[in-house]
Amino acid sequence: MDPLQCAIETATEAGRLLRRRTGELSIGEKSARGDLVTAADRESEAFIVKRLLQHFPAASILGEEGSSRVGASGERWIVDPLDGTTNYAHGYPLYCVSIGYERDGAMYAGAVYAPVLDELYAGQHGGGATCNGKPIAVSHNPTVGQSLVCTGFIPARYERNGANFARLSKRAQAVRRDGSAALDLCFVGCGRFDAFWELDLAPWDVAAGSLIVREAGGRVSAMDGTSFGVEDGSILASNGLIHHEMIGALGSEDS
Ligand code: IPD
Ligand code: CA
Ligand code: CA
Repeated sequence: MDPLQCAIETATEAGRLLRRRTGELSIGEKSARGDLVTAADRESEAFIVKRLLQHFPAASILGEEGSSRVGASGERWIVDPLDGTTNYAHGYPLYCVSIGYERDGAMYAGAVYAPVLDELYAGQHGGGATCNGKPIAVSHNPTVGQSLVCTGFIPARYERNGANFARLSKRAQAVRRDGSAALDLCFVGCGRFDAFWELDLAPWDVAAGSLIVREAGGRVSAMDGTSFGVEDGSILASNGLIHHEMIGALGSEDS
């Protein structure tokens, strides 16, 4: 099966499963405050991994909820079965399923499905990015002052990003903190946000979304402008035009 098609179909079905489960949540507290994990996260991941392995039995899996395995092929699926768990637990509609497909260490395809919005974002290396099958592109805003930018942070580590948040609040038209990194990246890809940055992210938060931004014509780097890798934690994604200005505005990482 074509990996992009597999990612699209699996993300869509898992997202519908999550939406059906809204309201029957059993919420447990993971290691840090605000890091909620629900029965739905695990159910979604079990569904996704079973489906991916049906079609790609030799692939490796990196899944947030513990389904990781090392396969025999050079393919790896990177899965966030529910990105935006806190939003989901509170009935805030911005959550999604994110599935990225890597081949020989490079992102090749990805899909992000937000079931309440019914928006399916997809991207394939060299093939562009789409939302619900229609091509998407990043915005054309040329300055941070005209831009709507977004960030995120783990609540217990707010201080690491607090000064950046304050600086951009003064400089940009406005800053949002929407609570789903994968969807935040798709919103850069479709031009709703002009930029998104965050520290301390995991590969499953950024794998599919970073590819979608690039395929939509945007730029992705680490927050200091150096090259981006899904394992690196920090990300700055933008429409490209404001990338340099964003790097300057973010300055050095707070510790
Ligand atoms: C979180 C979300 C959030 C980001 C956190 C992530 P989760 O993922 O993407 O926006 O700020 O850093 O951990 O826990 O909802 O899958
Ligand atoms: Ca996540
Ligand atoms: Ca998650």
